[in-house]
Amino acid sequence: MRLANWDTSEDEAVLNSETRHEPVVEPTPITRAVTPTPPVSPSKSAPIKVGTADNDDRTPLRVGDDLANAFATTQRVQVDEKAMINCRADLNQLIPFKYVWAWEKYLLARKNHWMPDEIPMQDDITQWKSEGILSEEERQVVKRSLGFFATADSLVANNIVLGLYRLITNPECRNYLLLQASEEALHTHAYQYCIESLGMEESELFNMYREIKSVGDKSAWALKQTSLLSDPHFNTGTLASDRLLLENLIAYYCVVEGIFFYCGFALILSMAREGKMINTAKQFEMIMRDESMHINFGLDMINQIKQENPHLWDAEMRETAIRMIKEGLELEVEFAHDTMPSGIQGMNVELMTTYLQYIANRRFTSLQLPEQYDAPTNPFPWMTRTIDQQKQVSFFEQNVADYQIGGGIQWDKGDW
Ligand SMILES: [Fe+2]
Ligand SMILES: [Fe+2]
Repeated sequence: MRLANWDTSEDEAVLNSETRHEPVVEPTPITRAVTPTPPVSPSKSAPIKVGTADNDDRTPLRVGDDLANAFATTQRVQVDEKAMINCRADLNQLIPFKYVWAWEKYLLARKNHWMPDEIPMQDDITQWKSEGILSEEERQVVKRSLGFFATADSLVANNIVLGLYRLITNPECRNYLLLQASEEALHTHAYQYCIESLGMEESELFNMYREIKSVGDKSAWALKQTSLLSDPHFNTGTLASDRLLLENLIAYYCVVEGIFFYCGFALILSMAREGKMINTAKQFEMIMRDESMHINFGLDMINQIKQENPHLWDAEMRETAIRMIKEGLELEVEFAHDTMPSGIQGMNVELMTTYLQYIANRRFTSLQLPEQYDAPTNPFPWMTRTIDQQKQVSFFEQNVADYQIGGGIQWDKGDW
């Protein structure tokens, strides 16, 4: 069986611009699971059909089917029985591998181990507590960025654990999702570590998503998606509910992690280029490396689901995906307006908008959708270099001390 891999580096979308609209893979017919669903003891939560297509006669999976299916047959799991969603084979067996791309990403991510307190924060503490080094707007940038991220990664982790995990029905992707959830916990730890180290008002930062509109709007947009999937009565298996799962994946991997994070990342890294808050930027740098892999993994999941279930990716769903990414971009531009109304060195809302449009175009391309914005040039090429360097240096073969010293970015002013 031909396996798909939609991996693209941050620059590949640009390098392959002439062919970017062509599908990366040819849809391959998927053999549905052949193991019949056995009689199971009555489930406490009856399956709820969110919606059913006229030609869709599948029975939605229920919580507990995992367990029932494990002992439904004495036959060993065949690779073609595995599926991204609505799989009725035993989900507890990693082998035989079908989704090799997911396993390879898991192995790669496993080598990314780092800890926030391995990055010394003393220089940033000195800058933050000194008069006259940071402008008021720069202080607001740091606080708003840390305030958004202080809860944002928890939203992502909750979406995985409370929503996605039980609905993605193969052990390879589930293994990666477990690791991603752990990395999101580490990211929340890193932001808390920065906030505590800098002596910020913790309750202000951790309540920002409820008290600052532009932060709250992004969080509410994400939470709405999680609330659908985390409903214990929600199950996939119908046209409408399968589409809701796909929407959730697009929301989190293309918008929340794929757009909502990028204004904050760019702002903090921009300050570091001016020699300000360099250690906070190093924390962000480590997180960006993880996030880049999360986005690529999510795109793989979305495209694999599309390949296995081409009926889901009709004109209506494509329009929905475009609308969601556009909504996300507008919310992120609002966040930029709110966070740096006058701009900081070399960075303003207009440039940020162009950058976000450039990023959004890449998300469209990755989903084999047409670009929606006239933003052919990245105004912050150093962001791409940062992400790419992090991928290319032997992060995955070194410990954190090595890549802080030998493989990291030189943050001196003018180095980029
Ligand atoms: Fe994260
Ligand atoms: Fe993430």
